[in-house]
Amino acid sequence: MSVPVRVLVTGGAGFIGSHLVDLLLERPDTHVTVLDKLTYAGSLANLEGHGDEPRFRFFRGDVADPKIVGPLVAEHDRVLNAAAESFVDRSIADASDFVRSNVLGTHVVLEACRREGRPLLQLSTDEVYGSTEEGRFTEESPMRPNSPYAATKAGADLLCRAYHVTYGLPVTVVRGCNAFGPRQHPEKAIPTFVLAALGGRELPVYGEGRNRREWLFVTDFARAVATVLDHGEPGLAYNIGGGHEIENAELARWICRLSGAPESLVRFVADRPGHDLRYALDGGRLAALGFGPEVAFEDGLARTVAWYRRNATLGVPS
Ligand SMILES: NC(=O)c1ccc[n+]([C@@H]2O[C@H](COP(=O)([O-])OP(=O)(O)OC[C@H]3O[C@@H](n4cnc5c(N)ncnc54)[C@H](O)[C@@H]3O)[C@@H](O)[C@H]2O)c1
Repeated sequence: MSVPVRVLVTGGAGFIGSHLVDLLLERPDTHVTVLDKLTYAGSLANLEGHGDEPRFRFFRGDVADPKIVGPLVAEHDRVLNAAAESFVDRSIADASDFVRSNVLGTHVVLEACRREGRPLLQLSTDEVYGSTEEGRFTEESPMRPNSPYAATKAGADLLCRAYHVTYGLPVTVVRGCNAFGPRQHPEKAIPTFVLAALGGRELPVYGEGRNRREWLFVTDFARAVATVLDHGEPGLAYNIGGGHEIENAELARWICRLSGAPESLVRFVADRPGHDLRYALDGGRLAALGFGPEVAFEDGLARTVAWYRRNATLGVPS
């Protein structure tokens, strides 16, 4: 029998974190503990499928609290840091929680990992690179974050690099494109569009809707993270690309068609300040580890609409 692997997942009650927990628990020798503060963005409903699973444990707490994080890290073999404040618009209104959870929180996790000699996988984002009108960012592209959210993620990402170079801590970083799918908080773009379309309300699209994003279905996103967990080289960052690139206006129209709503519901609203025009990643380094997306964008979007249709009030934190 193989030795059990104990993985600590911070932010595991959130959108991507909960799908990572699902994937990790499919491995019979893996035990998972979630550390999550259950902010407005986290929900135990996202983990309810694992309530009776003896290999699963939930712990409510703050990733920026060393007294909580230290002992938990000591009890686990691997740490996956997904806890973060994650909504750009909220960071524009007030970045305080973003600095605390994203930068200080990552520092607390790094310190605990250093003390206990535990490898860390950090969830970072494509937004650290800023915006590009053409071409694709590689992992060596300079960081030029434009929103307070992106700046805190860049700070955390750079701390991870420094802990590897300075202390030899085995840290890998993933910089993901936009994930979408079931359980995403309704404040984010795709759930906002889907819930509006299903409710017969206007779909608010920023500016002229020309901003382009690369979208990857969340189960593929989780597989990408697991690929780096299993095969990533310490000290390296891996872009999670391979998503479908689409303009926001076209995305909103597509969601109308899938939801049976008229495209005339798409409404252009005042743009977000400092709104990045386009993110696009070169996913070659991760592809070389064997990762490729399995869910086509149109299938993922149809599954997402179907999920929100079933769960418009259930399982989605308000
Ligand atoms: N969603 C995306 O498209 C995307 C893309 C690239 C990277 N990321 C990164 O992936 C990670 C997860 O993103 P998500 O979309 O699932 O976010 P989310 O907002 O859905 O979930 C974040 C989770 O972290 C928890 N949390 C927040 N602050 C905490 C704290 N101080 N202590 C403990 N728990 C705390 C919340 O309760 C929530 O459960 C984040 O690090 C984010 O920056 C997300």
